This record gives sequence, structure tokens and C-alpha cells, in this order.
Amino acid sequence: MNILILGSGGREHALAWKIAKSSRVDRVFVAPGNGGTAQDAENVDLPANDFSRITKFALENRVGLTVVGPEQPLVDGIVDALNEAGLRVFGPSKLAARLEGSKAFCKNLLHQANVPTADCHVFRNAESATKFVRDRYPIKGQEVPLVVKADGLAAGKGVIVCSRRPEVLEAIDRIATQREFGEAGNEILIEERLDGQEVSVLAITDGRTILTLPASQDHKRAYDGDAGPNTGGMGAFCPAPMVDQDMLQQIQEQILVPTVHAMKRGKFGFRGVLYAGLVLTNQGPKVLEYNVRFGDPECQPTLMRLRSDLVDVLEATVEGRLDELGELEWDPRASVCVVMASEGYPGNYERGQVIRGLDKAAETPDVKVFHAGTATVDGQVVANGGRVLGITALGNSIAAAKLQAYTAVKKIRWDGAWCRKDISDKVTEMEGT
Ligand code: AMP
Ligand code: GLY
Repeated sequence: MNILILGSGGREHALAWKIAKSSRVDRVFVAPGNGGTAQDAENVDLPANDFSRITKFALENRVGLTVVGPEQPLVDGIVDALNEAGLRVFGPSKLAARLEGSKAFCKNLLHQANVPTADCHVFRNAESATKFVRDRYPIKGQEVPLVVKADGLAAGKGVIVCSRRPEVLEAIDRIATQREFGEAGNEILIEERLDGQEVSVLAITDGRTILTLPASQDHKRAYDGDAGPNTGGMGAFCPAPMVDQDMLQQIQEQILVPTVHAMKRGKFGFRGVLYAGLVLTNQGPKVLEYNVRFGDPECQPTLMRLRSDLVDVLEATVEGRLDELGELEWDPRASVCVVMASEGYPGNYERGQVIRGLDKAAETPDVKVFHAGTATVDGQVVANGGRVLGITALGNSIAAAKLQAYTAVKKIRWDGAWCRKDISDKVTEMEGT
């Protein structure tokens, strides 16, 4: 079977690498892909948002399954478009993808399904949101632990976490009046701020059966010690030991199962990856948000540990027969992924610097260098994005995997390259290693 993967990040490289290992696969295409997918698969020069050209390509190249990496094409209806052409796709329909595409839709569903989440109010304009905040928090200077969010997709930027009233009012102004995030700010959410460790629990579901994957943890802030601005994710590890077997079971029963059932009852059954972004509060795990695709970078350490054939899982999901699949097999070792970024990221950065040392890094045992923002120019791999590489390693403990990942990181160089030095330290501190 030929498989087409849509997207160009580290997640898509990990998917291409894992899918290419399947004995059932002939050709793996990635559109548009990056410098790493060009090595493990075949890049196709098509943007993931050009549905008609993607459909044409899939038909002409006898693609048996398309796997959608990023959220935007899912929210825009790529699955429906390819299905209409008789093609099979792994991912949720446009209606189901609203779970990520509209935070108001998601909140509504969570309430209906009685899933634990932050208290939330939805507003259609700045005036009503501002009035709500002033009425509820009348005392100047008082602590106002609220989060202000644009309803729609805003490339991870439409969420402003606040502690004081002026910050909240400014956030409302930016989203609803200045329209900093465009149409994503048509509706505005004001949410209780949750405190606790953040973890990602992903499940693969065909709308009936739910396969929960081991928990992972992302590092969203740019700098060591969780300081600095939010990014797409500077590193991740899997499994996340703060989620033990009992808690994973609880998350499955109280969060994932009721969500999948509520989607089905609403006539928009969910097929694909259901990614719960959770906070472990002292009242138990609560949902921060849902995503409808693999996490990036969480996908990299997770797939590094998966021993089962991913193509079997993806196909069984599309065909609605996940119940026939046995338990997934996992490498018992832990995995850590360290993201190397361009100078200036998450702000402005330059492209085109030649990356050296990739071959040496690849020789490090139990390491895979996933590419994110790279391109191949005249046979050389160059930096071509903010998050450039995801160096991912296996080890007998999180500490061992971390050491191995950073050993490989040290072998890679380009002008301005940097990474966080503390990926997974929360766990090693917790375990006292
Ligand atoms: P989201 O796109 O909704 O995941 O939000 C992005 C980031 O903002 C999350 O990863 C959290 O770090 C933070 N965040 C979002 N909602 C809340 C909340 N209710 N309480 C605390 N932090 C939040
Ligand atoms: N790692 C966060 C995300 O994929 O949204």
C-alpha cells in the first residue's frame, strides 16, 4: 500500500519514519515534508491546504491511506474532501475537528458529557466580557487568576494566561477589539486558571473503541525552568510518570470515554487521534483543551517507543474495527525528545544556515534525529524554520534517555542553534535521580 502523510514538522517526520518501517507499505509520500522526510520517505511539493491537488495526487499515485498531521487541514475539512473522492484518510471529519477548531464548541461538549474542566464563560464581544470581569472582580489590584482565549485556531497563540485585572482587560481588548488573531476572536472565552502539572494523554479511536497511549509531557515555554514565551513545544518525554496506571484508567473513564460518546451522540463521531491536554489539579485531572491530531513534539518520543505496526492501527481506525486489534506493544524504555531551534525563535529567525554533524548525531546509539524545520538545498540540510530538529533518544530511565539525547545534541551545529537544557528534569527531580 502507498501512504501519504500531510504536513512538514517533526511529528510528520516521526510518522513517516514509523510508517516506512511497516512491511505492508510500498511507498511513503510526505506533502510537503522537510529535509528529514526526504531521507526516510518521498517528498511531494504540495501544500497541505490545497485539497484538490492533494486529492488528484492521491488518486494518481494509488494512495491507500492518507494521514493528516496538522490541525488546520482537519478543521478545514480535508477528511471529508478525500472521502468524497473515495479515498481513505486517518483523521476526524470537519464536524468532529471542531473539538480543536472551536474552544467554545469543545467547552460545550465537555459540559454536556460531564467531563472535568476549568469553569468557563463565552462572550461574543469585548463589552460583555469586560463587564463580566469588572462585576466579578470589583476590587482594584486583586488577584484575578483567569485565562482569556480566542475561540478559533490561532497557531497556539490565542491563549493569554493572567493574574491581575488589567492583564485580563488587555487580553480581552487584544482578542475581541484589536482582533489580533483575526476571526479566531469572533468569540472569546474567559476561563478559570488551573494550577498543576500539564500532561498530554492521547488516544486513538474509531468512535467506539479507544486505545489510550502512554501519557507524555511537553515543554511549552521557550526557556529553562519554564520561563519565557509559549512555543510550539521545546521538548517532550514519554511515559510521563506523574500519570500512573490508576490515573490513566481514571482519565480514560472520566474524560476520554464520555467525550467519545458525546461526540457520537451529537452525530459527529470521532475517528483519529484524540489528544487531551490535561492539568493534574489537586481535585484530579481536568481538561485544558482537546486537539484532534498527534502532538508535536509528543509524537516523536511516543512513536519511538511503539513496537506495534502503526499502519495496522491507522487502518483499523479508518475501517472502524479497532476492537479487533490486540493491545499495542511498547518498548519498556523511556524516551526523551529535545528540540533544537533557530536563533530568535519563537520570534523572528533567519533561514538557510547549513546544519553540520547530523551524520555523527545519527550514529549515537538509541537516537533518532527527527527533522522539523529543515530543507535540503544542493544536497545539504539547512535550517528552514523555528523548531528545526527533535533529537529523540531511548534509555532505561528518563534520566538515561535524556543523557543520550543531549549527547547527540552536542554533535550538531549551526549558527544560532539552541535548545532547552532541562527537558525532563521535572521527572528526574521527582524521582531523585
Ligand atoms: P491551549 O491552547 O488551550 O492548550 O492553551 C495553551 C496553554 O495555555 C496551555 O498549554 C496552558 O499552559 C495554558 N492554559 C490554557 N488554559 C489554561 C487554564 N485554564 N489554566 C491554566 N493554564 C491554561
Ligand atoms: N505539543 C502541543 C501541540 O501539539 O499542540
